[in-house]
Amino acid sequence: ALDTDLAGRHVVVTAGGTREPLDPVRFLGNRSSGKQGYALARTAVARGARVTLVAANTVLPEPAGADVIEVSTTGELREAVRKAAADADAVVMAAAVADFRPAVRAENKIKKRDGQDPEPIALVRNPDILAELSADRPAGRVVAGFAAETEDVLANGRAKLARKGCDLLVVNQVGEALAFGTEENEAVIIEAGGGETSVPHGPKDVLADRIWDAVARRWAAVS
Ligand code: C5P
Repeated sequence: ALDTDLAGRHVVVTAGGTREPLDPVRFLGNRSSGKQGYALARTAVARGARVTLVAANTVLPEPAGADVIEVSTTGELREAVRKAAADADAVVMAAAVADFRPAVRAENKIKKRDGQDPEPIALVRNPDILAELSADRPAGRVVAGFAAETEDVLANGRAKLARKGCDLLVVNQVGEALAFGTEENEAVIIEAGGGETSVPHGPKDVLADRIWDAVARRWAAVS
């Protein structure tokens, strides 16, 4: 039955967006609300899974029945996901993770000085958590990522899936007021080895259910 088809499974979901501090009061961040990740957590609980939600800088009500771990930086998210993933059957990386962070985090608030130009902000690359998780996964653990594309959605999505090495990639069509902060989403779920599921514009819970369907199909294929 659909209502408990994820029973006995531990799934890890990331949600929100990471923040990279410049100093004690400022950060580089993004506009991810976390709604899609929370929808994934909610629907997985409803389908009987044990759910760990790693939430980065969200302001949403905690989904009942999920273990929520709050993080802020990419480094913290990475540690939390690694720990939670140790016995996980699936990891779905819905969070918007900062690709870069400031090379230095100033200990004190950066000051403006009269008559002086501001210092440029040097950035360094963050580790790609999705690629790491994909490389390290044991057989039977499904790893899924998200991608936002504005053009050539399928071709770019396929290339990204291959680059990351994950099992599933959920490609959001963005632009025209889609996706960010909204209640609805429209996406294609791309599977390693072929297979594409188009999910028409609709509630984020519906897309979440289609993602769990795809995860469950992968489990069925390896067991
Ligand atoms: O490469 P891009 O940022 O488009 O990939 C998006 C996917 O990769 C998302 O699932 C995101 O959670 C994940 N990601 C990650 N670590 C990063 C950057 C993105 O896990 N440093």
